[in-house]
Amino acid sequence: MTTAHDKSAPATDDPSAEASPAAAAPLPGTLGFLGTGNMAEALLKGILRAGVFRAESIWGSDPRRSRCDVMKERYGIGVTTHNLDVVRKANLVVLSVKPQVLVNVCGEIAAHLKPRALVISVAAGVPLAVLQAHLPKGTRIVRVMPNTPALVGAGATAIAAGANATPEDLVTTERIFKSVGMTVVLEEEQLDAVTGLSGSGPAYLFLVIEALSDAGVKMGLSRYNALALAAHTVLGSAKLLIETGEHPGHLKDMVTSPGGTAIAGLHTLEAGGLRTTLMNAVEAATKRSRELGEQALSNVRHRSAAKDGPSQG
Ligand SMILES: NC(=O)c1ccc[n+]([C@@H]2O[C@H](COP(=O)([O-])OP(=O)(O)OC[C@H]3O[C@@H](n4cnc5c(N)ncnc54)[C@H](OP(=O)(O)O)[C@@H]3O)[C@@H](O)[C@H]2O)c1
Repeated sequence: MTTAHDKSAPATDDPSAEASPAAAAPLPGTLGFLGTGNMAEALLKGILRAGVFRAESIWGSDPRRSRCDVMKERYGIGVTTHNLDVVRKANLVVLSVKPQVLVNVCGEIAAHLKPRALVISVAAGVPLAVLQAHLPKGTRIVRVMPNTPALVGAGATAIAAGANATPEDLVTTERIFKSVGMTVVLEEEQLDAVTGLSGSGPAYLFLVIEALSDAGVKMGLSRYNALALAAHTVLGSAKLLIETGEHPGHLKDMVTSPGGTAIAGLHTLEAGGLRTTLMNAVEAATKRSRELGEQALSNVRHRSAAKDGPSQG
């Protein structure tokens, strides 16, 4: 079983590997979402389906009244257009706004958080140090990096604890994000690599699927059939690998008969440098994520230097 304390253990999304979230009792207290857009809605669906919280214990805020009404209508949660209405009630606050508005939202809520509230940020690329700088000292913060397949309950989420977060906070966070896919717990410094791999990975794979379907069309298949076959081949291959636990090389060898079709195709992929290209892509995205994080941190330093005024002497 992968636990919050065992960071080196392999990740698992095998529901039989641990108690089913649906079987566990709902978590106590009130869960609040600041921003009820796509990611918050994905989490809400998963949380309610898995019984992690009951609808009556969940509140969400969003500036648009129409969005609030939709969320209330669809999920039966409490809604408001004021972030502070949520923050004053919530023991667990999910920051699910866009990264560009996150710092302002932290500033708005800082003085109104419940004393022992846990704050979980899903904002891509915003370091814990930035969140810590805009929230009260000692706030328990967890930063997570989900990916877009969470929108259909098949996400891959990495979780990193802030300095004040407890092991129980990590367990709570895992329970929430396991309701929309698999999770790994790691150190924050690895989140840039996560962003380069699973965060940006869906973009790479959509390109692969599109290219495979173009190839199918070139070889005479209809666009509809080519796209469906390409997408299901990617989905099924990932499922086969995860469910059997086999090494990908072994599964590749199973499809590759002597002098056959797959080895002819594989030779072409190797000649085109597919492996190197994918490794370069993950490396480039990781570096970019690191740069953006450093930029965000340097903005915080500039702001606090400006607040302290010009240095004396
Ligand atoms: N979507 C993903 O697959 C994904 C993956 C990884 C990480 N994330 C992270 O998840 C966060 C949310 O992304 P998303 O895709 O869900 O974005 P989204 O659909 O735009 O949702 C953000 C919501 O926050 C609302 N909002 C704007 N300003 C607000 C404020 N001051 N207070 C409260 N709510 C406010 C927005 O309203 P308006 O639309 O009216 O502005 C919108 O409804 C981002 O930080 C992103 O980096 C998302």
